[in-house]
Amino acid sequence: MDAKEYLIKTSKELDGPIKQYIEDEEPANLIEATRQYPYAGGKRMRPAMALAAAGAVGGDRSKAIPLAVAIEYIHNFTLVHDDFMDGDEQRRGMTTIHVAYDVPTAILAGDALFAKAFQIIAELDVPDKNMRGVLRYVTKAVWDLARGQEMDINNEKKIVSEETYIETIRLKTSVLFAAAAAGGALVGGADERTVRALHEYAMALGLGFQIFDDYLGIAGDPSKTGKSVGNDIRKGKCTVMVTHAVRSIKDPRVLDEFKSILGNVDATEEQVARARSIMEDAGSIAYGRQLAKKKVDEAISKLDVLAPSEDKDFMIALAKYAINREA
Ligand code: IPE
Ligand code: IPE
Ligand code: MG
Ligand code: MG
Repeated sequence: MDAKEYLIKTSKELDGPIKQYIEDEEPANLIEATRQYPYAGGKRMRPAMALAAAGAVGGDRSKAIPLAVAIEYIHNFTLVHDDFMDGDEQRRGMTTIHVAYDVPTAILAGDALFAKAFQIIAELDVPDKNMRGVLRYVTKAVWDLARGQEMDINNEKKIVSEETYIETIRLKTSVLFAAAAAGGALVGGADERTVRALHEYAMALGLGFQIFDDYLGIAGDPSKTGKSVGNDIRKGKCTVMVTHAVRSIKDPRVLDEFKSILGNVDATEEQVARARSIMEDAGSIAYGRQLAKKKVDEAISKLDVLAPSEDKDFMIALAKYAINREA
């Protein structure tokens, strides 16, 4: 199965619902700002995962549509705030909210999307017990995400261990994927063991996804990713490739050169390219990609609990796509 094609199809299914929940209200500029990311649409991997999880456990996919929308709103809320925190100017091929509007509007647009997500979840058509489960996963995800984002900021301009890096991305990225998968499974009426397996699948997938995303942040094509490339180097973000490089570069002069580029906000394109080539020579880029592949293989192995279905096939394809994409 081609995950990308399937994502495009699912994304079309979700377009209407994603637009339907944000009504025209005042102040118009705030509403417009809240709409920018959801309407533009990214890959919509998380909502597609929620729908597939509901279907893969034998439930009704359409019942999970509101949850899928809510998860995408939460994701978009974190992106609005993340772009301000990271000082990025491009997202989904557009100017980021704090730049196109202003910082107060970006804070409020994020908050508003966050609130709307829970308004939608409150109306899910599921038994109370499953609703409580969904709420537990989703609220815990947002809490952990805040911890992960703080760790990500704290990791800037210093070299942390690979363990700390993995814990950071588990919290900032995996938990929302996991809430989508476990939440979708709960809406689909899955038993506890299956919910847990799908949670583990998405946690591992999220790690592979974020490791690969960091790779795209260094080596991707901005016209395809729709995001600034090279800024992680300038901000001195300690990704798995950076930690690997620091422990593997043998020549102290090269190490000094690498460290002088890392975290230099004024680094030129050439310097960023040099840092990337140093990482390539140290085998760090290959190391990152191998680690991402390992996480994705682990994710796929968790799906053994599921009976064969198109939704299961999609979940397998989605895991592979997480580390084999241009955007
Ligand atoms: C971006 O997520 C934020 C990260 C966790 C790296 P996506 O790459 O899923 O962004 P969109 O939704 O496709 O724009
Ligand atoms: C985004 O992480 C993670 C969240 C929004 C929680 P990054 O900052 O690494 O992702 P991009 O590169 O801005 O999408
Ligand atoms: Mg960012
Ligand atoms: Mg960030």
